[in-house]
Amino acid sequence: MIITARNISKSYKRKGISGEVQVLCSTDIDLESGKVCLINGRSGSGKSTLLNILSGLLCASGGTVHYDSTDVYKLSDTELSLLRCRQTGYIPQVQSAVGTLTVRENILLPSAVIGKGKDRFAADGLLERFGLTELADARPGSLSGGELRRLSIARAFVNSPQAIFADEPTNDLDDENSRLVFEQLRKAADGGAAVVIVSHDRLAQEYADVVYCMQQGSLSREKGRI
Ligand SMILES: Nc1ncnc2c1ncn2[C@@H]1O[C@H](COP(=O)(O)OP(=O)(O)OP(=O)(O)O)[C@@H](O)[C@H]1O
Ligand SMILES: [Mg+2]
Repeated sequence: MIITARNISKSYKRKGISGEVQVLCSTDIDLESGKVCLINGRSGSGKSTLLNILSGLLCASGGTVHYDSTDVYKLSDTELSLLRCRQTGYIPQVQSAVGTLTVRENILLPSAVIGKGKDRFAADGLLERFGLTELADARPGSLSGGELRRLSIARAFVNSPQAIFADEPTNDLDDENSRLVFEQLRKAADGGAAVVIVSHDRLAQEYADVVYCMQQGSLSREKGRI
């Protein structure tokens, strides 16, 4: 899959301020199957905003996003939701586990949404890959920050997505677990997924094919070529 974003702009209205605050302007990026793309940049520069736009969670103020030849802004809400669930995995910057479900049920949530039901085999594999086997039946409320982080990463892998969007995926993790996460993201790319990681983690550079820096609302390339 190739995700092509062209001329992306995004402005937000902010309470107490007249007019809008421009966060992204004229941003272009291509995400390609088999590649890991890393985006860094200072806090508040618009990295999560861009990731949310690329993943179809947020609508840009201007510009286009295509998944192969599909213009995501021409899809209905239902079509876009299905495309996101079937073809993408999203690791949010903030915790998003459902408190009433167990760790295993949380991991299986994206497959339940697309009607794949309870794939116990897939869940067991992911629990093991991310060191969560012992916690399979625990509720998120009893997990540490790092365990919750690994839960949200495992959940993003459950439908074997063609594109993975990871927003600061190693926040709360030690170096050993950070490496584990970057290795799994690299492996997903080597298996054919398009992977984009927003991260300040110095380890992330080792796993990336192309590195961008977000500055003044647009991206500049620091390493690699797609
Ligand atoms: N829903 C919103 N309404 C108004 N302003 C917003 C909204 N979401 C983000 N912003 C603003 O847009 C700017 C970019 O936010 P964004 O979360 O994309 O930054 P970031 O680069 O991911 O930062 P960080 O590294 O701290 O996560 C910030 O100034 C933020 O306050
Ligand atoms: Mg962010």
